[in-house]
Amino acid sequence: MCGIVAGIAQRNVVPILIEGLKRLEYRGYDSAGLAVIDQGEIYRKRELGKVKGLEALIAADPIQGMIGIAHTRWATHGKPSTQNAHPHISSQKVAVVHNGIIENHDRLRTSLQQNGYQFTSETDTEVVVHKIAEQLAIDNDLLAAVKSTLPHLEGAYALGVMYSDRPDTLIACRKGSPLVIGVGIGEFFIASDIAALLPVTQRFIFLEDGDVAELTIDNLVIYDKDGARVERPVVESQLKADSVDKGKYRHFMLKEIYEQAWAVSETLEGRFIGNRLQDSAFGHQAAEVFDQIKSVQILACGTSYHAGLVARYWFEKLARVPCSIEVASEFRYRNPVISPDTLVVTISQSGETADTLAALQEAKKLGVKHSLVICNAPESSLVRESDLVMMTRAGPEIGVASTKAFTTQLVALLMLVIAVGRRFSLTKEWEELIVSELFGLPGNIEKVLQLDETIEQLSQRFADKQNALFLGRGTHYPIAMEGALKLKEISYIHAEAYPAGELKHGPLALIDAEMPVVTVAPNNNLLEKLKSNIQEVSARGGQLIVFMDGALGESDDENVQIIKMPSVANIISPIIYTIPLQLLSYHVAVLKGTDVDQPRNLAKSVTVE
Ligand code: AGP
Repeated sequence: MCGIVAGIAQRNVVPILIEGLKRLEYRGYDSAGLAVIDQGEIYRKRELGKVKGLEALIAADPIQGMIGIAHTRWATHGKPSTQNAHPHISSQKVAVVHNGIIENHDRLRTSLQQNGYQFTSETDTEVVVHKIAEQLAIDNDLLAAVKSTLPHLEGAYALGVMYSDRPDTLIACRKGSPLVIGVGIGEFFIASDIAALLPVTQRFIFLEDGDVAELTIDNLVIYDKDGARVERPVVESQLKADSVDKGKYRHFMLKEIYEQAWAVSETLEGRFIGNRLQDSAFGHQAAEVFDQIKSVQILACGTSYHAGLVARYWFEKLARVPCSIEVASEFRYRNPVISPDTLVVTISQSGETADTLAALQEAKKLGVKHSLVICNAPESSLVRESDLVMMTRAGPEIGVASTKAFTTQLVALLMLVIAVGRRFSLTKEWEELIVSELFGLPGNIEKVLQLDETIEQLSQRFADKQNALFLGRGTHYPIAMEGALKLKEISYIHAEAYPAGELKHGPLALIDAEMPVVTVAPNNNLLEKLKSNIQEVSARGGQLIVFMDGALGESDDENVQIIKMPSVANIISPIIYTIPLQLLSYHVAVLKGTDVDQPRNLAKSVTVE
């Protein structure tokens, strides 16, 4: 999604803003732009495509300034084009960058046009800059003009605003979209996330919903949604500028796949005393909350939703905890029936997914008393709005395709199954088994990563394919879904997942020699059933790739390629079987030459509906 970086300093901010934009590239975008004020004039550069194009444009015709705003745009209103790229400018004097969607832009556009403002883009954002310019004519003060503009805006926004008559002032505000202030020495910056600002500071202020901030080189004043002056805490980040570096890897995604053993260890760290999981791992009031709840409702999107699907099996099968799960974008509009003593669990790597946030708010409106988030982004909106929190501590995930965030979500969910399950029917034996398997998980992840070369060779079978099917059963059906999502996201191959028992109810019609069928087949109580499904595919000439640690039986079937997996306990096998599927999609994407870390049309942090 769109990314904002801006700053006010006693030095030229252009290189800082360009570096910041590069660090926001992972969020997904289609154009980039930057504007500065120099000698009382606004200078702007915009380019369709990558930030390096913008950088080249500026190198060829340099601009500089001690105040500037910059942006990567992910098109929502109006196609990707230079004309639609931010910053947008009004009356040659006001410039704005925006993340979010202004829902009433049509109405505002009509009234601004009637008042003589000419629009040069198709964006919803342009109404904001003209509205501020219109208010400036009345208020003659930048902060006042922004404050009187905001009540006219319906929807979500994070904004950076500057005015050529006030080159000493930068305004930042947010509602529904994230925005953080970077605190420097004699300088301030704003950005959509802290990654953009790590080269200049590790001290951050997270703006709250409705906040408006006025920044000068030596002063920062924040007003809350009611207009009252407020202090917001400064948070010291542990992240360093090089935490978001590819290191020896060709892509962030590959690096992140390889970081999973470490990420899992980090997620487990400090949550146990001996072998006993502490309720307090989820927050100080966790024990009290867990004692009261009667069921669990999981809400999430995309990959995080798949993690929740696995957890539903665990909650119900191991602990008899009634557990429902729904895609957040559906839940928020369905007017669901939910009882107040349900624990609403949201799962999100970014903590900013607009649908998940809105679904949580909807659940609260419906009377739910307790919420818990599993999240990888400290200080994110979901973390701030939830009663209980478990951070996944996977470190920054830059590749748009989620990998280590997913496996650490599963680890966090297993811990939640223990903590809640104890209050239901989870036996001591099961608890001990889960804990010991969790402790052994990093070692098993290292083992499965050794399959990388085998999977790289296997990927050649997919390079010329248009479609693929993924099959699994039980907890491995969501893993098949995750495998299919990864493949389509980064290789653009159409991939679908089915619970293998559903094959004969329709998808079997798709099977022919052109259809690779990836099957996730660990040695568990469903393996015999799955073998029959495999036979159904093989008999029709389907090309099977089976990930398994057991044996198939008649093994010389030329339609079947078996990838031998390490044997692991059933409880952790969904985590282990995810990893070869991540590697498979990665290698197929590399072969196809796609943009692995920033696949087309996608964004890392989906902050709009
Ligand atoms: C994962 O590979 C995807 N990029 C996407 O499905 C993602 O999981 C989804 O947008 C939810 O994001 P979140 O975890 O940040 O809420």
